[in-house]
Amino acid sequence: MKKIHLLATIMIAGVIGFTSCNQSSKNKQVVKKENFGVYKGKDVFLFTLTNKDGNVLKITNFGARITWIEVPDKAGKKENVTFGFDTYDGMINGDPYFGAVVGRYANRIAKGKFSLDGTEYSLALNNGVNTLHGGPTGWHSVVWDGEVVEKTEFPTIKFTYKSPDMEEGYPGNMDVEAIYTWTDKNEIVIDYKCTTDKKTVLNITNHAYFNLHGAGNGDILDHELVIKASTFVPVDSTLIPTGELRPVTGTPFDFTTHHPVGERISENYDQLVYGKGYDHTYILDNKEEVDATVYEPISGRLMEVISDQPGVQFYCGNFLNGKRIGHGGKPYNFRSGLCLETGHYPDSPNHPDFPTTVLNPNETFKSTTIYRFSVK
Ligand code: GAL
Repeated sequence: MKKIHLLATIMIAGVIGFTSCNQSSKNKQVVKKENFGVYKGKDVFLFTLTNKDGNVLKITNFGARITWIEVPDKAGKKENVTFGFDTYDGMINGDPYFGAVVGRYANRIAKGKFSLDGTEYSLALNNGVNTLHGGPTGWHSVVWDGEVVEKTEFPTIKFTYKSPDMEEGYPGNMDVEAIYTWTDKNEIVIDYKCTTDKKTVLNITNHAYFNLHGAGNGDILDHELVIKASTFVPVDSTLIPTGELRPVTGTPFDFTTHHPVGERISENYDQLVYGKGYDHTYILDNKEEVDATVYEPISGRLMEVISDQPGVQFYCGNFLNGKRIGHGGKPYNFRSGLCLETGHYPDSPNHPDFPTTVLNPNETFKSTTIYRFSVK
């Protein structure tokens, strides 16, 4: 699997001091921590991370979520490019997955069942006949512990969560860590680390929605997408993998060279019908540093996605319907945001030929995903 070397570079580069709420640091880097509310007796905080150029990332320990990414367009105008809510109530009652860390098993498990060493485990069903994103009270909906990591080169927040044995039906007590770093290159670096005390399954991701026009400003059909993947994972009508791994060549799923998301989305192609558009895992070629890019020609904003995982779920907001009113009172309409969720394939615990998602007690799962923003 591809290794990500970026963090090593960052660590060697040295330490520039910054402290939480310390506006008088030598550089502009700042982390602000504010009370956002209380959920099931636990304090929810909003962390505002500002990098050297004054670009802003907001994250919260409710679901370890990204709620705001403010980056410039090619004229220097800054705008938030991710879905979220201005208020605590909006967030708690809003879409369960916007910006969240999703686990213990991101995406679907068929009929909510899987077996390990002859023991069958049953999960709560929350997506028709299947289990989606770790179940109804998965990691997106719990309050994590959150702390500002001091004396790092860039603003950094560490979220930790203890997922108890049999939480949502998954075996093993699991210690989960998600560390967010907001670099001076406008990179969100997410480092995941998980350990378990019992054999279990794991597929962790971040579920941020992006619109490079600015969140709530129209749809993403003009966004030009590249995914460095020669193969994708076809699904049935309940979005469970059929077991086939299909080459993208000659299909509307070929994003090995750039295409606007909307260019072929209405073609009469079986997988576009099942997914109601793109809602599929791509098997990353993992040959180059960058695995996917999204470019929005009007603003000139570019987002690059870098991952060490075997796949990425490309979801283009087919289930959005305008009912969620987000930042600035803007509705999040049909296909107004896209997700590139790095991780394993859906339903892997029931597909022995897919890369394994089993985690054993003597192992440490470590993975890094980077979302990098620039203009061109
Ligand atoms: C995506 C998934 C979609 C939908 C969405 C949440 O990860 O691929 O099918 O469930 O999450 O609305």
